[in-house]
Amino acid sequence: MKAFASDNYAPIHPEVIQEIINANVDHQKAYGDDSITQKAIELIRTAVGDSAAIINFVFNGTGANITGLQTVTNTWNSIICASTAHINVDEGGAPEKHLGVKLLDVSTPDGKLTPELISNLWVRMGDQHTSQPNVISITQSSEMGTVYTPGEIKALADLAHQNNSFLHMDGARISNAAQSLGVSIADLTSKAGVDIFSFGGTKNGLMGAEAVVLFNNSLGKNYPWIRKSAMQLASKNRYIAAQFIALLSNDLWRRNAKQANSMAQLLLSKIENNPKIKVTQKTQSNAIFAIMDPAHTVELQKKHNFYVWNDVTGEVRLMCSWDTTEEDVINFAQDINLICK
Ligand SMILES: Cc1ncc(COP(=O)(O)O)c(C=O)c1O
Repeated sequence: MKAFASDNYAPIHPEVIQEIINANVDHQKAYGDDSITQKAIELIRTAVGDSAAIINFVFNGTGANITGLQTVTNTWNSIICASTAHINVDEGGAPEKHLGVKLLDVSTPDGKLTPELISNLWVRMGDQHTSQPNVISITQSSEMGTVYTPGEIKALADLAHQNNSFLHMDGARISNAAQSLGVSIADLTSKAGVDIFSFGGTKNGLMGAEAVVLFNNSLGKNYPWIRKSAMQLASKNRYIAAQFIALLSNDLWRRNAKQANSMAQLLLSKIENNPKIKVTQKTQSNAIFAIMDPAHTVELQKKHNFYVWNDVTGEVRLMCSWDTTEEDVINFAQDINLICK
């Protein structure tokens, strides 16, 4: 039975497995000094834009966020983020532990920061008694399944830069956002003023591979030591890099994201008119958020795997993956409509 819990539940795309097999010949230099890593870096640079100064690989999304953010933060800084941000609620306190920073988490209606919500947060700058905000961190697509347009990102980048701060993007689901908006990854990153970018791959068909992209040379000078001491440096880096070669060849990133996103739209169309279900967010990527009667959720979860997002309101998250099929969606929707009445 296909799960609707998380895109992390999905298997590895066969083209990714094949690229790992292709990489599995001969000896190659370790720790990223190999030709496969170089090829993957060039493909990432093409995808995100020429201004990508430093590109490195890590094992997971938390590692990408933390090591990327460490390039610009000191223990007296604070990071502005949405209260729903993965760095705030799903990284086990890693930002606090590894960066020593304060997170200024802001409530949002839809998982997205806006200049209006945060522009008053740079206060007491220069005051030694107060932590100093120097990063805005946004997630694309957001933890609530919504997406930032290039213009919205640019507005936040401008705000950050006006305040001598940086814009970080957690792009764990960047492909879903770019596909949904019909834009390139560069449109959402280098062209929109992002400084630090976690380029996610795992949720979009890779086995376990993420990249950290720094759009400014000066940010990267300590990155090798930041990554090594954060235990995110892979000796056999070629196998991580090979996954990105697959992702960025033959448009696999867009094909996978399109499948996940369009299956979410199909599921939405099958359940949104059910009067017992209240869709709570715009479905702009591969996740639907909706409130159901908790008794119905319990019944449905006997057969289907999905997360309760908010125990208090009964909100659930239904997430599609690169391998979700129309048949999976139709079966799930049938059960939802049978039980939720
Ligand atoms: C928004 C977001 N960022 C980052 C991550 C990366 O997490 P992990 O460290 O488990 O790879 C996830 C995974 O669920 C996520 O949803």
